[in-house]
Amino acid sequence: MSKEVQKKFYQMTLEERGRFLEQQANLSPVEVEALIHGLTIQEADHMIENVAGVHDLPLGIAQNFIINGKAVLVPMAIEEPSVVAGASFMAKLAQSTGGFIATTTAPEMIGQMQLLEVPDPLAAQEKILENKDALLASITDLDPILSKMGGGPRDLEVRIIHESAIGPFLVIHLIYDVRDVMGANAINTAVETLAPQIESLTGGRVHLRILSNLADRRLAKASVTYETSALAFEGFSGERVRDGIIEAWAFAAADPYRAATHNKGIMNGVDAVVLATANDWRAVEAGAHAYAARSGRYTSLSRWYKDQNGNLAGELEMPMAVGIVGGATRVHPTARACIKLMGVQKASELAEIIVSVGLAQNLAALRALATEGIQKGHMALHARQVAIAAGAVGEQIDRLAEQLVLEKKVRIDRAEEILKDWRQ
Ligand code: MEV
Repeated sequence: MSKEVQKKFYQMTLEERGRFLEQQANLSPVEVEALIHGLTIQEADHMIENVAGVHDLPLGIAQNFIINGKAVLVPMAIEEPSVVAGASFMAKLAQSTGGFIATTTAPEMIGQMQLLEVPDPLAAQEKILENKDALLASITDLDPILSKMGGGPRDLEVRIIHESAIGPFLVIHLIYDVRDVMGANAINTAVETLAPQIESLTGGRVHLRILSNLADRRLAKASVTYETSALAFEGFSGERVRDGIIEAWAFAAADPYRAATHNKGIMNGVDAVVLATANDWRAVEAGAHAYAARSGRYTSLSRWYKDQNGNLAGELEMPMAVGIVGGATRVHPTARACIKLMGVQKASELAEIIVSVGLAQNLAALRALATEGIQKGHMALHARQVAIAAGAVGEQIDRLAEQLVLEKKVRIDRAEEILKDWRQ
């Protein structure tokens, strides 16, 4: 083992980190280059319209994760300090109990059709259900790539919305197994193809034909246990940290104002991996918050409790519509390198990693909030950004950041003042 591999990842130089990842994940020089420099403007120009540049984010690599018994390096694209360090630390503390256990349901997405102007909604509902097999069969081979992967239409459900601003109407759900793709295009094509048949069966008019981001049939779940002793630090006993975390969770479970912030902490981890793999983070965000409100009251996505051995146990379940095939995930060179770095072969494995990182991230925030407060650790890291924003360069950055933390004034005006003094 070379000397640099023995160093902790954060202690390595940027070049050493690149070499370490290259070795760990067997990345080619081109893939390492993609991790470091990302998308070219020419590649960006093919992705969206009116391209004028490329907007970068830092890509950090969370360490220490063991998920379903496998060690994994997790790429996280995020602008906020503390997030990568927080996830890595919580992953480290979970190692003594075997890390994270994660599962997923079948990758079934929902495509919606809004059926208007049906004279008899009940009769229309019956007609659609009677013809369900034929309707599903008509779109079985619509997407040959999906069919080859074992995906395709699975079911049709029909609901009547009795009261709305435009009176009663029908909602038809196409349940569609999208395997390893995110699935938005596949499902939108499928509902657009089905719509004329629904119209001729029912005599109604299909208005909207679009997927639902409340992907509550495509769920990912992670659970983890922390030995109480592993939670102790500085003046805080393990029991105090454990109980403080459970009290903090109870706040989010009971109060939507706190739940929004609590879930934002989860999404710090989730979105960073979703973004690193060029998946649609808005879709994942929409699904997460709608799922958090599924009981009619917005609440915490996670649960923390004391298990029968007195340890801290946590779980997180949420929709996870992510893919590893097709779309931006394939086009974006950094995303491709990130997928390779994690060694995922299926979208479900990616979803399992993402939900585990979300749970770790949630705990990192709760542990800080329930003990010393969030600002101590956060400010130390934030100080570097403030120093750079104030104009510090090279070695000045760390020196200025340390000074700001020491003075407990992590503010741009103070940073500029100190820099001015130094320059004089
Ligand atoms: C900050 O980005 C996230 C937290 O606010 C999450 C939380 O409060 O649980 C620290």
